[in-house]
Amino acid sequence: MDAFGSSWAHLGGGGVRILLTAILAAATAAGPGHSRAVAGEATPLPPLRTDAEREAFLLEGEVVEDRAIPQGVTLPRRVTLRWGEHEHDAKIQTLDDYKTRFKTGSGLEIDFRDSWRNNVAAYRLDRLLGLGFVPVTVVREYKRQPAAWTWWVDDVLMSARERHERKVRPPHPLAWICQIQVVRLFDALIYNFDPTLENLQIDEDWQLWMIDPSRSFKVFEDLRSQKDLPARCERRLLAGLRGLDRPTLEKAMEGLLNEQQIDGLLARRDTIVRFYDDAIATRGEPAVVYELPPRVGVRPASRHYAE
Ligand SMILES: Nc1ncnc2c1ncn2[C@@H]1O[C@H](COP(=O)(O)OP(=O)(O)O)[C@@H](O)[C@H]1O
Ligand SMILES: [Mg+2]
Repeated sequence: MDAFGSSWAHLGGGGVRILLTAILAAATAAGPGHSRAVAGEATPLPPLRTDAEREAFLLEGEVVEDRAIPQGVTLPRRVTLRWGEHEHDAKIQTLDDYKTRFKTGSGLEIDFRDSWRNNVAAYRLDRLLGLGFVPVTVVREYKRQPAAWTWWVDDVLMSARERHERKVRPPHPLAWICQIQVVRLFDALIYNFDPTLENLQIDEDWQLWMIDPSRSFKVFEDLRSQKDLPARCERRLLAGLRGLDRPTLEKAMEGLLNEQQIDGLLARRDTIVRFYDDAIATRGEPAVVYELPPRVGVRPASRHYAE
């Protein structure tokens, strides 16, 4: 009744009747077994919200359109999938590159990795940590090649690069900074070598999405740059980091990350947790630990990774 609360008081009898009719109609449409379309009116499909639903969609959906993505570097595909009455887009990444040393535009890179495997690994790790910042991603073949299929983030307002260049002020600056801190910590954990603002998309609720973690998960046990660790850490993320263990990671990352990559990940986790434990000891927990509200439209209850 809250949503109507302010209207009740000043409405006369006719208004009350209209409101009751609206509430009844809404309840009828929402109730189980009552979702048949009225003649001439299509009943909107409930969106696929849970990780399990989106994973099933990505694994089983039929490709009805397939095109290149015009911007970017590794040229992933953008496909439209149909699954029952549901239609949605997905990104497909097939690249699987590894070089012990690789000369790139910005210098010599050691343990160069640019792989679809990292897109799946980042999604599973994100869910193990209870975050929900990486869109659902599954392993599925594309034209007989192994690949990562990632849920396309809809209602993108702009990339974080565009926001920065156009100097768009987030509606809730503090919530924005807290999200950026989560992203930067996750980047440090996965040793993301391509943590660019283009790879961060902003949806219409001003939620950040990490859409391109393919150049991550190097074997190094040290952080890429400890000084870049955010000064503060999200409470559930810190608990999730503490709880990460090798058997869980080995199971979740089978076929995606090798043993050295998992060693590196766990060693970096140790360094990160130590960093925040020291910060809590010197500055006190309230100055270091904050809480983000749950994400809108994200239900990270995956079949395999977060139950
Ligand atoms: N899951 C996604 N949801 C929405 N947009 C996406 C998604 N994946 C990629 N994009 C868009 O496609 C562009 C290129 O994809 P990306 O994975 O970053 O490839 P590249 O390796 O070429 O940078 C991104 O900058 C973004 O605009
Ligand atoms: Mg990219």
